[in-house]
Amino acid sequence: MTTLVVGGAGYVGSHTVVALHAAGRDVVVLDDFSNARSDVVGELRTLTAPNLAVIEGDATDRAAVRRLCDEHDFDSIVHFAACKSVPESFSEPLRYYRNNLLSTLNLAEVAIERGIDRLVFSSSAVVYGMPEQLPVTEETPPAPQSPYGTTKLICERILADASACSALRAVILRYFNPVGAHASGRIGEQPIEAGQNLVPVVMRVALGSADRLQVFGDDYGTRDGTAVRDFVHVMDLAEGHLVALEADLGTQSSCVFNLGTGIGTTVLELIEAAEAATGRRIRYEVVGRRPGDIAESWADCSRAADEMGWRARRGLPQMLADHWHFVNRCADGSA
Ligand code: WQD
Repeated sequence: MTTLVVGGAGYVGSHTVVALHAAGRDVVVLDDFSNARSDVVGELRTLTAPNLAVIEGDATDRAAVRRLCDEHDFDSIVHFAACKSVPESFSEPLRYYRNNLLSTLNLAEVAIERGIDRLVFSSSAVVYGMPEQLPVTEETPPAPQSPYGTTKLICERILADASACSALRAVILRYFNPVGAHASGRIGEQPIEAGQNLVPVVMRVALGSADRLQVFGDDYGTRDGTAVRDFVHVMDLAEGHLVALEADLGTQSSCVFNLGTGIGTTVLELIEAAEAATGRRIRYEVVGRRPGDIAESWADCSRAADEMGWRARRGLPQMLADHWHFVNRCADGSA
């Protein structure tokens, strides 16, 4: 039996492919390579098997998804494929709705048609918007503040409703802030467009390929005035998908889990940790807040621990050391 990993050449997807293979699962990757470099394929085959099946294709094409299911005996699907930039989703909302919703609809429909009974869905803490209470639990009312966050919430509802009337079981994973890379340094966060999230920018400053970091606001009501986030190692997230494939949902047809560390780190604390991990000074200047940013967000992950036995095992120093190892390997061309 085989797991179809849709978006398996992307950041969290590629690390999940490695984790599933390491656990002895057979994997087929489907990716349209709209936000993943083709050289990831070679690295994935080095980390898994030379004959790892990687299919270039579009999950919004239902006929293509059906053809793939004719060729392989899938028992499960992990669905990562989505446009995922908050700012971009405001300028291109219809592309986000079409791509993110249609791919999810197709995969749910074909899974039910073919008797595939487990679908693990890559969701995000963005569905919470500006949570009032902290830490954020899965009961925190969703209130997405962007078209991207809204697509994730609608996809969750599609999967919950589809699984409620079928044999499909959906496990929805809401990630907080993924960072880090596989210890080998062969795969990491390497989107087509240079990432504008905090850690990729910090790493470019450490490398010297960016002059300084702009810190978006230091006037939040936090311990040092800068925003707080729950950074989680991408390999911990990958392992979370493995346990989600095997999780016993009991009588539930779907379930939502937060995947984070439960630890909040401020932007200035992250800069300090990055200087320790890289041995480089991270120059920064404080500027105005970025529109749409929230002050604080960190997860209550007790449900994942209690019901799936999953906990994040890697701390911030390892996240940043692994991220730095990867960007250095890319920078000196060894990647
Ligand atoms: C973190 C903090 C910024 C850059 C993102 C998005 C979405 C999600 C991952 C998929 C904030 C500050 C950042 C910079 C800064 N992905 N910052 N200078 O916004 O928490 O959430 O998480 O779902 O991409 O929702 O992540 O890394 O962009 O920002 O000061 O150059 O770092 O203001 O406080 P965010 P982030």
